[in-house]
Amino acid sequence: MKISVIGAGYVGLVSGACLAEIGHEVVCTDSDASKLRTLEAGGMPIYEPGLESMVARARKERRLRFSANAAEVVTAGEAIFICVGTPPLANGDADLSAIDHVARIVATEAKSPKLVVEKSTVPARTGRELKRALSVYGRGAKVTFRVASNPEFLREGTAVGDFLHPDRIVVGVEDDTTERQLKDIYKPVLDRKFNCPIHNPSCPDGPPPAWVVTTISSAELIKHASNSFLALKISYANMVADLAERLGADIGEVTRAMGMDPRIGPSFLSPGLGFGGFCLPKDLQAFVFLAERSGVDFNLLREAEKINKRRIDQFYQKIREALWVVRDKPIGVLGLAFKPNTDDIRFAPAIDLVHRLIEEGARVRAYDPEAMEKARELLPHVEFAKSAYDAAKGSEALLIATEWDEFRRLDWDRVRREMARPLVLDGRNLLSPAEMKKLGFEYRSFGRPD
Ligand code: UDX
Repeated sequence: MKISVIGAGYVGLVSGACLAEIGHEVVCTDSDASKLRTLEAGGMPIYEPGLESMVARARKERRLRFSANAAEVVTAGEAIFICVGTPPLANGDADLSAIDHVARIVATEAKSPKLVVEKSTVPARTGRELKRALSVYGRGAKVTFRVASNPEFLREGTAVGDFLHPDRIVVGVEDDTTERQLKDIYKPVLDRKFNCPIHNPSCPDGPPPAWVVTTISSAELIKHASNSFLALKISYANMVADLAERLGADIGEVTRAMGMDPRIGPSFLSPGLGFGGFCLPKDLQAFVFLAERSGVDFNLLREAEKINKRRIDQFYQKIREALWVVRDKPIGVLGLAFKPNTDDIRFAPAIDLVHRLIEEGARVRAYDPEAMEKARELLPHVEFAKSAYDAAKGSEALLIATEWDEFRRLDWDRVRREMARPLVLDGRNLLSPAEMKKLGFEYRSFGRPD
């Protein structure tokens, strides 16, 4: 099928490349001309494992191309996937101006019937507004538009695998034709009939994805409700960690056993500096806003947000307790990305932490395997290290702010020798307190006996 993708950010680029990978003819556009130039020159605007080679192959085989001409992109596809950003407004609501802008272009440029698929994360009822906008902006044109919601559940760092091996594909539709068309698009994923370009533990033996057909509003709600629930789960684990710390219990032991109950599940129970990134925090805010506007008091989620915001203070408290005076002390920071396997620093707890340390007069030397280039502009007073060992050199404390595997596998004996004082504050519970103690470290983490 000929597919157009509008928006070449995380969602658009991964979706476009994966749709090309499973056999469609995809053209992708973005309002950011420099991003398109980078892509056309074979570069990657983001770091996402497996994406670069997939894009290169699809372009070589002419299944994927980029174009700055939005009108031409709209004309090209039978289905148009809207993957533009929906950033938070000051009041927490989602800014839907990019969707409105796309609706205008689609409505005025389309010359044949189109299926318009909303893939960006949007508040429930956006689909209704989108449909109305298409008909208002396209007044006079003889083209018909069908609208569907097809939320993505891509995690940064594993987005390619998540697209090609999802647990479920949710489609919010208003008629059977739309459902059939979407099913055709996803057929290779549903039947698992494509050569998987990446290694994924669930491939090829895992169960095929569930095909979930709902109304448009339900599909929109599923996405916001899922992300908000994940945020809630993390904040819950963080509160239990605080309690465990006071009571002398071990949060690792607690969440391990909790997670064995299939009704709870083991994931998203890791305590620490809390959740960041461009999805969980903003989706939570937008969901609370939507609830309030709809007359539903969702204070529960406000609490989850507050708990998350307090994590940096709590970590800083631990740092101060350990160091007594922070001013002028050399502190190494491991990790800047909001989570491992990405270079994304948007709403990253690590960045907030570094700002706090700088404010308090610390001398920060930071290292991240992928995110330093993006962090440089944001952190002008930070020295960037060449490696984790380099960040540890001469420091009086080493902080772990992102749970990169690389940090787990460090030669910690060597790290200790590099440091002026062997003090590690682990904001992600990445390491074992017993082993760190054995290696001669003073070691603090969240919710575990030190
Ligand atoms: C999220 C959703 O998981 C995904 O389904 C959706 O499509 C987009 O938003 P992502 O933003 O990539 O994905 O990050 P995610 O893996 O969910 O992690 C979010 C944050 O929570 C990270 O900062 C991570 O470090 C933190 N986290 C995660 C915890 O603090 N504890 C956990 O147990 C899990």
